[in-house]
Amino acid sequence: MRSRELVLAVAVALIVAACAAPTASRLPERPRVGFGQPISEADLAAWNIDVRTPDGLGLPPGRGTVAQGKAVYEAKCVACHGPEAKGGSMYGTMVGGIGSFKTNARVLTPGSMYPYAPILFDYVRRAMPMDRPLTMTADEVYAVAAYILHLNGLVPADAVMDQSSLPKVQMPNRDGFIPDDRPDTSAVRCMRDCK
Ligand code: HEC
Repeated sequence: MRSRELVLAVAVALIVAACAAPTASRLPERPRVGFGQPISEADLAAWNIDVRTPDGLGLPPGRGTVAQGKAVYEAKCVACHGPEAKGGSMYGTMVGGIGSFKTNARVLTPGSMYPYAPILFDYVRRAMPMDRPLTMTADEVYAVAAYILHLNGLVPADAVMDQSSLPKVQMPNRDGFIPDDRPDTSAVRCMRDCK
């Protein structure tokens, strides 16, 4: 029966085609919520402020001296961090403690803990002043970083911090961090010629 074979062939072809069709075409169309709008690269740039802290890649243009940083500090930070960053109403000291990480009485300050100086810039720019984050100019952040590094004895009184000088500041705890190479992590400690 030729026509019966033909009907069967058409039916098989339809089933095969239906199976091969993309799933989406068989689902009801999702309602469009209509929230948001595409963001431009220029708008994104204001939020894209990552700094690669070991070498400072991504630090913005700008500069600041220790003296300028003292003025910024006294206007915007002293209320919570106290005079000369020795501790205030909201936070303990940000000065000293260098070497204390090898003892049980650790004192966490930028000088004692941060392995790379650009961390100070990145953190302050993002998070401080705590009640008004992301309000400072790059110059102000460089300056206040210079001041805090100076208070920690890590740069001289005439230091100028900018995108090339800040990454060069040698932090005392530079080699105090090791990869977590316990067996349940995938980190591998590398001692030489590391990628
Ligand atoms: C309204 C209070 C407040 C103000 C103003 C403020 N801070 Fe802070 N700051 C804090 C608090 C609270 C913390 C601790 C935050 C935490 O541990 O999460 C902190 C933490 C920090 C740290 C990290 C300290 C460390 O030892 O690692 C730095 C650096 C810092 N602030 C710098 C500044 C600078 C610079 C300014 C001024 C531009 C400033 N802060 C203004 C409240 C403040």
